[in-house]
Amino acid sequence: MRNFWIDTDTASDDAVAILMALRAADVNVLGISAVSGNIPVEKGARNARYTVELCGKKTPVYMGASRPLLREPVWAYFFHGEDGMGNMNYPEATLPVTEGNAVLAFIDAVRAHPGDITLVTLGPLTNIALAVRIAPDIAKKISMCYTMGGAAVTLGNVSPAAEFNIYVDPEAAGIVFHSGIPLMMVGWEHCRGEANLNDEEMAMVRSFKTPFADFALDCNATAIATNQKWLGEPGLSLPDPVTMAVALDPAICLHHGSCYVDVDTTSEVTRGMTVVDQLGVTNQPANIDVCWKINVARWKELLYQSLK
Ligand code: RIB
Ligand code: CA
Repeated sequence: MRNFWIDTDTASDDAVAILMALRAADVNVLGISAVSGNIPVEKGARNARYTVELCGKKTPVYMGASRPLLREPVWAYFFHGEDGMGNMNYPEATLPVTEGNAVLAFIDAVRAHPGDITLVTLGPLTNIALAVRIAPDIAKKISMCYTMGGAAVTLGNVSPAAEFNIYVDPEAAGIVFHSGIPLMMVGWEHCRGEANLNDEEMAMVRSFKTPFADFALDCNATAIATNQKWLGEPGLSLPDPVTMAVALDPAICLHHGSCYVDVDTTSEVTRGMTVVDQLGVTNQPANIDVCWKINVARWKELLYQSLK
């Protein structure tokens, strides 16, 4: 069994990623830390608890940071709906929020499993930045971190330069990227085009006739509609599930490489841009393993397995 910790701003794509981990036979999700991002942290924690309960688990869900380190929150209701879950207005889970601060609980989990804990981050990196500031020793005790975030030498989403998770709290991302945590960055570029579920694939998922398949499609209803309208791309883009698939099966990342990566926090034009030094011109030591290409068929296969 592999120990996982998931940090998430649980909206609709996060929920599918959490479900993938909870339903993986060889993964033990030690805890889930909610962070402000797509929606306020209370709503994110509520969505995470609902997802845990849907999977028949009792995984602890902790409340983390209620806003970025320095900046004002930037909500993503336009994409995920008012409740973050496609306005499905799911009922409150009976599973309560676990007592205790998410950041301290995460630090304790890493220290209890040194070298044997995989961190998957699906939202802004506020909680993780706070954790490494409080307990720098954890950076080298985390086996591997897979981060849904950034855009490596390509277009952003929430701004021309930056992807949402990094844009929302660029200071936190900078702290984490320079913390020494072994981190693979899976950028938004891997969650577009052919990596999306097209209409036929969504119909096939619906044909599984399982509560998990219905949940994955239903809670992403606004994401599907917005993806079409905003990006003119068909189907359903699932950034967090793509990153979770890489964490569950690292071979899904077909091409990756260690580069020096920094995060812009100085300009409003390029706020949150993940600046990747592909050519080594900064002479800075590589700090991030950048995912450059994924195996789309394998990513989708893994998703389908978790929804059946
Ligand atoms: O840019 C996509 C990312 O921002 C995903 O993690 C989505 O859930 C939002 O957090
Ligand atoms: Ca997310």
